[in-house]
Amino acid sequence: MRLGFIGAGFVARFQAMAIQQVRGLEIAGILRRSGADALSSWCRQQRLGDAKVYDSIGELARNVDVIAIYAPNYARVAVMEEIHAAVMGGARSRGVIVEKPLGRNMVEASRMVALAREGGLRTAYFENQIFMRSIRTQREQLQPVARTMGPLTLTRSAEEHGGPHEPWFWDPTRQGGGVLLDMGCHSIAVGRYVLTPPDKGLTFLQPQSVSADLGLLKWGQPKWRAQLLKDRGVDYGKTPAEDFATGMVTYRNPETGQIVKAQFTDSWMFEKQGLRLFMDGMGPGYAFEVNTLVSPLSVFIGDAAAEAIADQETALEKATASRGLLAVQTNEADLYGYTDENRDMLEAFSAGRDAMLDWAYGLEIQRLVMAAYLSAERGRTVDLTDSATLRELDSYIPAIQQGKGAAQLL
Ligand SMILES: NC(=O)c1ccc[n+]([C@@H]2O[C@H](COP(=O)([O-])OP(=O)(O)OC[C@H]3O[C@@H](n4cnc5c(N)ncnc54)[C@H](O)[C@@H]3O)[C@@H](O)[C@H]2O)c1
Repeated sequence: MRLGFIGAGFVARFQAMAIQQVRGLEIAGILRRSGADALSSWCRQQRLGDAKVYDSIGELARNVDVIAIYAPNYARVAVMEEIHAAVMGGARSRGVIVEKPLGRNMVEASRMVALAREGGLRTAYFENQIFMRSIRTQREQLQPVARTMGPLTLTRSAEEHGGPHEPWFWDPTRQGGGVLLDMGCHSIAVGRYVLTPPDKGLTFLQPQSVSADLGLLKWGQPKWRAQLLKDRGVDYGKTPAEDFATGMVTYRNPETGQIVKAQFTDSWMFEKQGLRLFMDGMGPGYAFEVNTLVSPLSVFIGDAAAEAIADQETALEKATASRGLLAVQTNEADLYGYTDENRDMLEAFSAGRDAMLDWAYGLEIQRLVMAAYLSAERGRTVDLTDSATLRELDSYIPAIQQGKGAAQLL
């Protein structure tokens, strides 16, 4: 399958590393943008494909089977409109992948779904955490226990690090919010997946309510605000975004009526070694726990040797320390689920199906994330069984996303 990349930044490089581990996928093209030439030569060196750099989306679409959108959130709809136009004009592409989030709000996310449908494109919504081997293996291992004892009733999911790498992530008007949209979408999705009985569909559990609380706990403080302005050009005194988000999504099992809960916690103010994904789950008499900072490999770098470190991020994504006892992950693309989401997409698209997580599923996650913003903004629990609330969410743009988060966060 000939794959084309739109976006050649952080996640595109991660996905290329994942594709090294997938047979049958070739990186055939990359849209000309910053990072494209460097990624293209790396792909060729690794024999991942020609990775030809194309000047336009139309040209890319004429030369690849599947297009992967790895561009910033604010460019989603414009990029998809060009893909749609190319496909309607007879271009060869038949499938489209998008990294999370599907859009910045429901209006954008719905537009993405509509454009893909009109273009007759197969879709894959890349939510890597659902493909983490640890998450899938605990489901398999615990399935017989769950069948006998009853399903998991509580899960807690967290993604935390010290803050994103590019300025646009920090700007709520371009990214769409702060850490809740950026990483809460992962935790909310994986929480729902973990609670869903393995023999049921992904949207089997019915969302009942969402309550959330947002904070600007570190990057709103004068010292850190000044650093953010200097390093990223974003002024959190004027247009702040949340660096901490927590909340609870309550679901109902439609067959048994049982209520189950998924708690999420996400932050850009995590002061530990680097990125940590943490998930746990409680069932009657059994449990599981995942912590990606626990690695079988650690290295020690003393003060005298710390100057010699070339790049601490080769050991761990978003690494914050370069000395002491450090955790090293040897295959992060696989650990975080990037490899298997590509495998699933390849298998599904080759068979003429949507991927396990399609864009309609991405829209479901978008709705839950928007409900969390609404809950925090209004200071109340959002009832997802109320049709007027669901209608409101369809056009809701969080105040933080509008650049008006000061009253809420400062
Ligand atoms: N699954 C994950 O854990 C994960 C991790 C990081 C990023 N992401 C998602 O991936 C997407 C990209 O993030 P990133 O970290 O790679 O960002 P990035 O800023 O590092 O890279 C963005 C790339 O897109 C290109 N670009 C910018 N504007 C464009 C436009 N208008 N049209 C086409 N290309 C454009 C840039 O030149 C760059 O190559 C985001 O939506 C982000 O949410 C997901």
